[in-house]
Amino acid sequence: MYKILEKKMLTSNIIWMVVEAPRVAKHAMPGQFVIVRSEEDGERIPLTICDYDREKGTVTIVFQPIGASTEKMKHLEAGEGFVDVVGPLGQASELCSEDPETLKNKKIIFIAGGVGTAPVYPQLKWLYEQGAPADAIIGAKSENFVILEKEMAAVADNLYITTDDGSYGRSGMVTKCLEDLVNSEGKHYDLCVAIGPMIMMKFVCKLTEQLGIPTVVSMNPIMVDGTGMCGACRVLVGGEVKFACVDGPEFDGHKVDFDNAMKRQAQYKTEEGRMKLALEEGDTHHGGCGHCS
Ligand code: NAD
Ligand code: FES
Repeated sequence: MYKILEKKMLTSNIIWMVVEAPRVAKHAMPGQFVIVRSEEDGERIPLTICDYDREKGTVTIVFQPIGASTEKMKHLEAGEGFVDVVGPLGQASELCSEDPETLKNKKIIFIAGGVGTAPVYPQLKWLYEQGAPADAIIGAKSENFVILEKEMAAVADNLYITTDDGSYGRSGMVTKCLEDLVNSEGKHYDLCVAIGPMIMMKFVCKLTEQLGIPTVVSMNPIMVDGTGMCGACRVLVGGEVKFACVDGPEFDGHKVDFDNAMKRQAQYKTEEGRMKLALEEGDTHHGGCGHCS
């Protein structure tokens, strides 16, 4: 059993848990994810790693219930545990393989949308530890949905908070905040990393294309089994078929076909939709052994 050591509610429906998983913690890198199962024969849930502590042998996960399995997970308490925590899976953020000296000369902005703040945090923290702190924007519907503000502020160069309804921080969506920073407040960025809802990543990419800022996105939201087998996370990147769980989750946002990914995500929810996709996509419908090996 992978014991839950700590649990807290970040909002009424966003849960933060520290889980004992020494082997995962030993190898985890920012940008990677784990698959958890709360019971035998339970659904496999892919979750990006929010934090890890190699010495304590723990990983931190943050999730928002969206189905029966995550709703059950919400009710697990410290002292209870998961039957499986598998990982780390996926590729580490490309930033982790860059020379720290090069990173120090690069001005990076992270855009964290809602629950997407959780996977942004380990990347921001990692850059801070390399002596190359980056700026970050947290966007949330309203004040009550802003998460990890204190943790993000501790490792960001500048942290900007914006809420859709203006109840906290700046007013408006993350795109307005970025536009204001670059066009009105004299900020310059060499790279943007946007992680959040698909629709947010789509519009951030439209804006950064206009602003000429290379942009990386995380396609974690479309994953289902996380093994390259189910085909849920098939995404077109620069016209090529990729699978977020094995080739990503991070991709060049300016090359991702978001409209196709969002349409496909909706279609994948029904059995009929999945059958239609399998017919249309043929051999490229799922990764199969070509990818999952
Ligand atoms: P949300 O709907 O509250 O949106 C967060 C912020 O995104 C908003 O405050 C706004 O600033 C921005 N945004 C939303 N729509 C936008 C638009 N059309 N244009 C510009 N900006 C826009 O987010 P939430 O409810 O916390 O998010 C849940 C979603 O996040 C789920 O779909 C989940 O799958 C996804 N998620 C993604 C990742 C990832 O790795 N990409 C990780 C965790 C969660
Ligand atoms: Fe199933 Fe990637 S999540 S193929």
